[in-house]
Amino acid sequence: MPAVTGADRAVEQYYTALAATYWRRPPYAPRAVDRIVQASGRRPPVLVADVGAGTGHLTFDLLTRGCLVHAVEPNDAMRAVGMARIGPSDSVTWSAGTGERTGLTSGHYDLVTYGSSLDDTDRPRAIREAARILKPDGWLACAWNRRVLNDPLQAEVEALIRSRAPEYGHRRRSRDHARIIGESGFFHPPRRLQERLWHTVAICDWITAWRSHVPLQRRAGAAFDAIVDEIERLVRDRVSGDELAVPYATVGWLAPVRDLAR
Ligand SMILES: C[S@@+](CC[C@H](N)C(=O)[O-])C[C@H]1O[C@@H](n2cnc3c(N)ncnc32)[C@H](O)[C@@H]1O
Repeated sequence: MPAVTGADRAVEQYYTALAATYWRRPPYAPRAVDRIVQASGRRPPVLVADVGAGTGHLTFDLLTRGCLVHAVEPNDAMRAVGMARIGPSDSVTWSAGTGERTGLTSGHYDLVTYGSSLDDTDRPRAIREAARILKPDGWLACAWNRRVLNDPLQAEVEALIRSRAPEYGHRRRSRDHARIIGESGFFHPPRRLQERLWHTVAICDWITAWRSHVPLQRRAGAAFDAIVDEIERLVRDRVSGDELAVPYATVGWLAPVRDLAR
């Protein structure tokens, strides 16, 4: 592994701090994972390189669909939680590596996946690396979960945050992944992935997740704790009981590699 420097170290510290609780994040929409696995048109077992596998959210979903997965994760704490959660299996191998340097075999995989991880990479380099390890007819898939903000309660939460931290927003994630994938020259134009799910979660867990939400922390600065307190008051005021149903959309892109006779 290359030495960790600068911005990489900030990312490393961020995920090390999150590792113990990261698995509480919402799952990807089942239909979105089905579409990712089916994209390659292969019969199982589909050979997948799951890059930035973290605590194994997407890895687990791929395994339950009969894929053989190589999970690549640079962060030791995230990888340790992922390996413990999934347990020993002949269908999964874990290694330290990055999207830019996976360390995986060239031309070997049907599918390269990034579950909320493509934007942690140097995308042009990671996309080139994905093309290197894919078979000539392989596919790249990247996906993220977004809260659905036209839900009345989520709209209120969002308005509250924006009123206190105007810089905060989902635009952070809507950078044009499709353009970068398409312009790389290594992939055909990506197809849109978008599927909904409802995630039911204990309110206290949802608030705990906000308290470790580094992007909001960065944008809110000194107001961060007060904002999370306000979110908690708002949610407890609007919801009876201890659980909350949060609507999410799994969004992303699917792209077939170009056969450049690599
Ligand atoms: C938002 S988490 C997502 C984890 C998991 N894929 C999921 O769906 O829950 C992003 C992961 O990407 C990893 N990561 C950070 N920099 C990376 C890089 N340059 N290449 C690959 N993964 C990276 C982080 O350590 C973290 O585990």
